Amino acid sequence: MNFRDTLKINREGHLEIGGCDAVGLAKSFGTPLYVMDEKYIRDMCAAYRGVIEKEYGGRGLVLYASKAFSCLAIYKIAKEEGIGVDVVSGGELYTAIKAGFPADKIYMHGNNKLREELEYALDCGVGTIVVDSFNELDLLDGLAAARGKTQDILFRVNPGVEAHTHHFIQTAKTDSKFGFSLADGTAEKITAVALGKKNLRLRGYHCHIGSQIFEKESFRLAVGKMMAFMADMKAKFGFEADRLNLGGGYGIWYTDEDKKITPSGYAAYLETIISEVALRAKEYGLKEPFLLIEPGRSIVGEAGVTLYTVGAIKDIPGVKKYVAVDGGMFDNPRYALYQAKYTALLANRAAEKPEEVVSVAGKCCESGDIVCANVMLPKAETGDILAVLSTGAYNYSMASNYNRNRIPPVVLVKDGFAEYIVKPQSYEDLVRNDVIPERLQ
Ligand code: LLP
Repeated sequence: MNFRDTLKINREGHLEIGGCDAVGLAKSFGTPLYVMDEKYIRDMCAAYRGVIEKEYGGRGLVLYASKAFSCLAIYKIAKEEGIGVDVVSGGELYTAIKAGFPADKIYMHGNNKLREELEYALDCGVGTIVVDSFNELDLLDGLAAARGKTQDILFRVNPGVEAHTHHFIQTAKTDSKFGFSLADGTAEKITAVALGKKNLRLRGYHCHIGSQIFEKESFRLAVGKMMAFMADMKAKFGFEADRLNLGGGYGIWYTDEDKKITPSGYAAYLETIISEVALRAKEYGLKEPFLLIEPGRSIVGEAGVTLYTVGAIKDIPGVKKYVAVDGGMFDNPRYALYQAKYTALLANRAAEKPEEVVSVAGKCCESGDIVCANVMLPKAETGDILAVLSTGAYNYSMASNYNRNRIPPVVLVKDGFAEYIVKPQSYEDLVRNDVIPERLQ
C-alpha cells in the first residue's frame, strides 16, 4: 500500500495523514471530506523544480496543471514553491490571479477559449497563451492589437504519440480536438501564418501526449518528434523556437497495479526528457530551448485522501456486497467516467487485515454511482470512517452538485495541523443563484 512518511497508521490503529489522525479529522470537520497533504505537494514541486535547476541550468519552468485541483490556496503554494501554473479557463485564471499568482508565470490553454477569456487573459497580463486553432490565432491577434500589446504564444501541436498508462503508440492520428497536427501539415501551416502576425510573438510549441503515463520512452519519443519539427521550421522559415512545453501526464499510484514512484523517481522522468532535449538539440543544430513541463496529477494526486462515513450496507449473497458512504459521484466521478480504480481502507481500523471484497457505493440516485468497485476491506460496519487514497487530482476539481448534494470541503494538513482551504457548502449556497421568475411567484 501507498504508505510514506506523511501517510501512516498511528498507535491507535488509525490512518494518519500529514500528522493528523483521520478519525479526528472526520470528527472535527465532518464527512465527506477531502484532505490534502501540504508536504507531499511541496515535495513534488521541489523535486521537479530541482531537476530544472540542477540538470538544465534553470532554463525552464515547472507549470502546475491546475485543472487537477484548483482553489486559492494551491496557487499560493505554487507561488511559494517558485513554479508557474497552467490554467484552462477564465475561472482557473481568476482563481490564480485572486490568489496573487504572478500573471507572467501563467500559461493559458484551451481548445476553444472564449473571446471574453482571451480578453481577460490579455488584460491580466498572462505570460503565454497556448493557441489551439486558426480562429483563436486571428481573434487573439485582433484583441492584442486593440490593446496595443504583443502577446507571447505557443502552439499546441499533436505530435502523433499517444500514451496510456502502461503503453504508448505512435500514430499519424489527426482525430483530436486539440492542437495542430504534425502529420497533416497544419502545424507547419499555422507557423507560417503566425510569423506574419504583428501582435503575436510565436515563442515555440507545446504538446501533451496523455495522462497517467508510466512509460518514459513515450516522453522521449515526443521530444524527438517535437525537436525534429522545430528543426524543420528553422530550415523552412528561419524560425527557431526558443520554448518547448512537453505537457504533463506522469502516472501515480492508485492501486498496487500501479508503480509507486517517489518524488525522486518523478525527477527521473524529467531527467530523461532533459537528456533527450540536449541530444536532439545537438543532432539538429538547435539551441536548447527553454523547457516547460505541466504535471498536474503527480503533484496533487497522491497528496489527497477522501474520508467518508459508512452508512447502509447491502449484502446480496452470491452477488456483491455494497458498502454505501455519504459521498459518491458528486465528489468523485472518476469511476463513473473512467471505471477508475482506487484503494480504500477503514481509517478507524486501519491496521486490521482486509477480509472481503466490496463495492463502495455513493448516495446518488443512480446505479452507476460507485466510488470504487471490488476493493478489499475488513468487514465494514455502519459508522466506520472509510478512506479512499490518491484522490487529490481530478476529484474536487470535477465535483458537482448532482442531486443537490453539497461539494465536500477541503482541508490542508501539515505537521499535525488541519485547516480549511475550501469551506463546506451550505444548503443556502445551493440555491444562491436560483431565481423564481415573477410569474411563478
Ligand atoms: N497539460 C495539458 C495540456 C493537459 O491537457 C493536461 C491534462 C495536463 C497538462 C496535466 O496532465 P496530468 O499531469 O495531470 O496527467 N480528468 C482526467 C484527466 C484529464 C487530463 C486532461 N489533461 C482524469 O480524471 O483522469
